Amino acid sequence: MANTGPFQAGDRVQLTDAKRRHFTIILEPGGSLHTHKGIVEHDKIIGADEGTVVESVMGGQWLCFRHLLVDHILSMPRGAAVIYPKDTAQILVEGDIFPGARVLEAGAGSGALSMALLRAIGPEGELVSYEIREDHLEFAESNVDGWFGGRPANWSPRLGDLQEVTLDDLGGQPVDRIILDMLAPWECLEVSSKLLVPGGVFMAYVATVPQLMKVMEGIREQKCFTEPKAWESLVREWKVEGLATRPEHRMNAHTAFLIWARRLADGTVAPRPQRRGRK
Ligand SMILES: C[S@@+](CC[C@H](N)C(=O)[O-])C[C@H]1O[C@@H](n2cnc3c(N)ncnc32)[C@H](O)[C@@H]1O
Repeated sequence: MANTGPFQAGDRVQLTDAKRRHFTIILEPGGSLHTHKGIVEHDKIIGADEGTVVESVMGGQWLCFRHLLVDHILSMPRGAAVIYPKDTAQILVEGDIFPGARVLEAGAGSGALSMALLRAIGPEGELVSYEIREDHLEFAESNVDGWFGGRPANWSPRLGDLQEVTLDDLGGQPVDRIILDMLAPWECLEVSSKLLVPGGVFMAYVATVPQLMKVMEGIREQKCFTEPKAWESLVREWKVEGLATRPEHRMNAHTAFLIWARRLADGTVAPRPQRRGRK
């Protein structure tokens, strides 16, 4: 699927009318969309630039753009709750997901994070996504395949419990990054320590304070990670209209906490973090 340039057959396109109602279509030569304002012919869109207005036979007007990844993630069918785009952005940067990285994630859920990870690692990278529930794995596979227009060659979605994964399952080589988004990530800390390369980044995403505490304590108990850090990201939109400019009243105030640590070299004891004495 193309990400840029004039529309092509196979593109997933969002049509928006003046009342901001959306239709999403996949362009097919000779295809048509039936709306309350008459038929919109796909052939009028194929070959046009993004940001074009297409007219139905009854004069209805629709603004056409390709879906961005964020549109796809927020509109795709879900088996499990997805990681919010604001938190995905944190994971990609703080998790240092680099082109060519070997990344392990669990659970795959609806595949939202998988898509962002696949984009960031690029074709030279490798993503292995474990999911314990068959029905959720099916959602992840169909969402990821739908977005990329087929199964990415460097993606390996697997049905299974991360706790049972061994280095052999990963071709005998530890991975560069591990990202956990599941109910009980503390149960997967020991296996993560065995599958992560020294210097590798471990991240977990948890919704509640008890989960946060259990993961932080669990990481410390493993004694093979750096002192973990935890944070959350808050994003507030603004309405910008002359003298009415102000923050929006509503926001997603809480999604989840992010937890981060790095794998130490085997046998290393990190210097204890020192607290500054009070003056
Ligand atoms: C919140 S969802 C993940 C959503 C996903 N990150 C996304 O962005 O679409 C959590 C998933 O973890 C799966 N899960 C829980 N424990 C697991 C384990 N030990 N191994 C593999 N998957 C697990 C659950 O079945 C569930 O689908």
